[in-house]
Amino acid sequence: MINQVVFISGASSGIGYATTLALLRAGYHVAGTSRSLENLSALLMATEQLPSTAGKFLPLACDVTQPEQMALAIQHTLQHFGKLHVVIANAGIGQRGDVVNAPWEDIEIVLRTNIDGVLHTVREGVRAIRTTGEGGHLVMISSVTFNMTSPGMATYAASKGFVSSLAKSLRMELEQDNITVSDILVGRTNTNFNKNRRGGERTAQGVSSMSPEVVAHHILKAIQTRPHTVTIRLVDRLIIWANVLAPQVIANIVKKQYSK
Ligand SMILES: NC(=O)c1ccc[n+]([C@@H]2O[C@H](COP(=O)([O-])OP(=O)(O)OC[C@H]3O[C@@H](n4cnc5c(N)ncnc54)[C@H](OP(=O)(O)O)[C@@H]3O)[C@@H](O)[C@H]2O)c1
Repeated sequence: MINQVVFISGASSGIGYATTLALLRAGYHVAGTSRSLENLSALLMATEQLPSTAGKFLPLACDVTQPEQMALAIQHTLQHFGKLHVVIANAGIGQRGDVVNAPWEDIEIVLRTNIDGVLHTVREGVRAIRTTGEGGHLVMISSVTFNMTSPGMATYAASKGFVSSLAKSLRMELEQDNITVSDILVGRTNTNFNKNRRGGERTAQGVSSMSPEVVAHHILKAIQTRPHTVTIRLVDRLIIWANVLAPQVIANIVKKQYSK
């Protein structure tokens, strides 16, 4: 068993769910959160099927938008496992709709979850890694949209721009603590993300989806090798390069897919 403890936000579904199982299978101990413990019951049942070599799982209720809940969740993790090495800021939500006409509630939930939530996760998580005193790793779940002109989903794309920008600066701020930072630029993945997206579920056509298990495999690999940036598929690397070389072409494709 690997004597390393991981905290992951948004473990009840999709990428967080698959990553938690991959980490446990690899022998990491994992504290995984959701806004409600009930939402973690399927994951808890799945952990019972894992072999005895798997790490231990701690389910925690925590709304990432609430700093006091995040502080308590991290505190419980430290009390339960005695230490913390890796923090994965994964919980996130999408939004479709133009900046001016979208309901404010849709925009606000994206800001609170993808920006405030990531900050609360990082701030409390890093304090606990520092207390442990063994160095550590921050894994930021961003998106290939992080620097795209994104009409029709501008707030979501900008929130992921925030996450990737934060990752770059944190990397230098945390150097002296021996804490590394990986920015995972996730492409389209087959999860409940579209269903949960504010402002409309309709999926954009064109690019195929990966399974969350593939993303989880690459997150596990990133925890073992600590790269600065991860882009999983060739198609996503091509999208990122195309966005640098011909941003207007990509912007027009996004506009066609996401604008009403
Ligand atoms: N799927 C994609 O195509 C895609 C592409 C690029 C990036 N990403 C990113 O990948 C991450 C995971 O998304 P996913 O695809 O796995 O979506 P998902 O299936 O909808 O899962 C989202 C997770 O976030 C949690 N969550 C949402 N709001 C929360 C809050 N306020 N507090 C705590 N937890 C909260 C949900 O838990 P509860 O509802 O149980 O609280 C759930 O576990 C997100 O950051 C997303 O932006 C996804």
